[in-house]
Amino acid sequence: MTESRSDWWRHATIYQVYIRSFSDGNGDGEGDIAGLRTKLTYLRDLGVDAIWINPWYPSPLNDGGYDVANYRDIDPRFGDLAQAKELISEAHELGLKVVLDIVPNHSSSEHEWFKAALAAAPGSPERARYIFRDGKGPGGDLPPNNWRSVFGGPAWERITEPDGSPGQWYFHIFDVSQPDLDWSNPEVRDEFLDVLRFWFDMGVDGFRIDVAHGMVKDMTKPDLPYDESNLLASPKIADHPFFDRDGVHEIYRGWREIADAYDPARLFVAEAWVEPPERLARYVRDDELHSAFNFDYLKAPWFAAELRESIEQSMSVLGAVGAPATWVLENHDVERVVTRYGRPDSTGGTVRDRPDVREFDRQLGVRRARAAALLMLSLPGGAYVYQGQELGLHEVLDLPEESLQDPVWERSSHTERGRDGCRVPLPWTVDGPSFGFGANGSWLPQPDGWGEQAVQAQDGVAGSMLELYRSALAIRRENPAFVSTTMTWDDGLGPDVLAFHREPGFVCVANLGTEPVALPEHREVILASVPLTDDGRLPTDAAVWLRTV
Ligand code: GLC
Repeated sequence: MTESRSDWWRHATIYQVYIRSFSDGNGDGEGDIAGLRTKLTYLRDLGVDAIWINPWYPSPLNDGGYDVANYRDIDPRFGDLAQAKELISEAHELGLKVVLDIVPNHSSSEHEWFKAALAAAPGSPERARYIFRDGKGPGGDLPPNNWRSVFGGPAWERITEPDGSPGQWYFHIFDVSQPDLDWSNPEVRDEFLDVLRFWFDMGVDGFRIDVAHGMVKDMTKPDLPYDESNLLASPKIADHPFFDRDGVHEIYRGWREIADAYDPARLFVAEAWVEPPERLARYVRDDELHSAFNFDYLKAPWFAAELRESIEQSMSVLGAVGAPATWVLENHDVERVVTRYGRPDSTGGTVRDRPDVREFDRQLGVRRARAAALLMLSLPGGAYVYQGQELGLHEVLDLPEESLQDPVWERSSHTERGRDGCRVPLPWTVDGPSFGFGANGSWLPQPDGWGEQAVQAQDGVAGSMLELYRSALAIRRENPAFVSTTMTWDDGLGPDVLAFHREPGFVCVANLGTEPVALPEHREVILASVPLTDDGRLPTDAAVWLRTV
């Protein structure tokens, strides 16, 4: 198959760097560019094609940097623009592409634009960059409607006008410090085109788009039924006032023109929690974004029927628009897969789906996570690996309450702990201060025993999660079957087994049942998530890659 240089993303493995928790170069307890630069060879050797770096812009970090105060700079805690340029060129020298995170739905309340909006009068051009409305009721004391923030509580906040009087309300889908921008305002649209060019000119290879299904709103819609209005993931309301509105597609057509004007063309990946998959496919039509995270797959429990249905549906609806699937098991918003799959029922796509369940079986979770890695990494399309996934890290469910930083914790009145448990800084060494994360402590406490899962503890150790990922990613890069865009199911191994082949001569078998299964005819076992049984069968909760020619 011939492929243009700019089509690398169609089957790439992209490693997600949550920079604050990756590696701390200056010893202040938070990860940074300096730390990341020292680990680029680790990432090259892991065998990924690109890194996606979570927001590194100046920010009060009320929402982990998804509250951007300046879209064209670096937060001093993470480094500066000069270091960013060095990082990009060092990554490129090592053959790694660099994808950044753009947050267009909202800015930080510390952004110059928002400060100007607060200082200006109602109806002014400064206010028109955001969504300000008068309140309802006597004196405008009530919010304009009942819409709720995804992080809990109302989606409206009242301001005090410059003259000291109680004032207008502004809209925020997320935290109160994340005011939504008004994308019907051409000034907002132009600003982001310019931001894209700023980073593309610096050599950045693409962007992950935060809340790509937000941005366009219909503020004339009435109150929402309470339960439904408080959903980040795929609001089940048709014609939702602020999620997945048709108008977003026009924005992305404009963005695509900018990306295509570069050589090589730049990439976009959408974070869009929409349902059903047909709606997601609309984001990756030919003249829009290149790819979109497959959250339907991420949310599927470890059951053959559910996973198969999700795979089939994704492949067919995305195939219909010529887009590759983009598989993902973890990110900085959801529960670690070891924990999720370590529950007997393996349900709960996000921590927040299961705030009640603290127990999980780590051994079971690791075993399934190993099999899940082989399954995911052998499906046609792109794949994402979230930092620490390659180490088999689990969700830290017992972070001390006083250390919790996710705004969800406060906004839910301490009923939801939020997403900090998957953001605990990485262990690089078996012991030492913060297990090699940095010279001092870490901004979130690391649990006892964290060093047992460190890179140092797994490096070169046969059977470790790290070596499994290294082997799988090496095969993924070298085996010609991995660039094919199709797969064919091999039925006949029973309802609890997922088996498929890709040409030339590659078969993946995953056994999600309770009994070992005999493998189909093959020439060689290329890689297995656990040893086969003595008589060559695939044990339960395991996966294997086979060569058949
Ligand atoms: C996305 C990010 C998440 C953030 C939210 C608001 O869902 O992944 O971390 O809190 O957007 O920007």
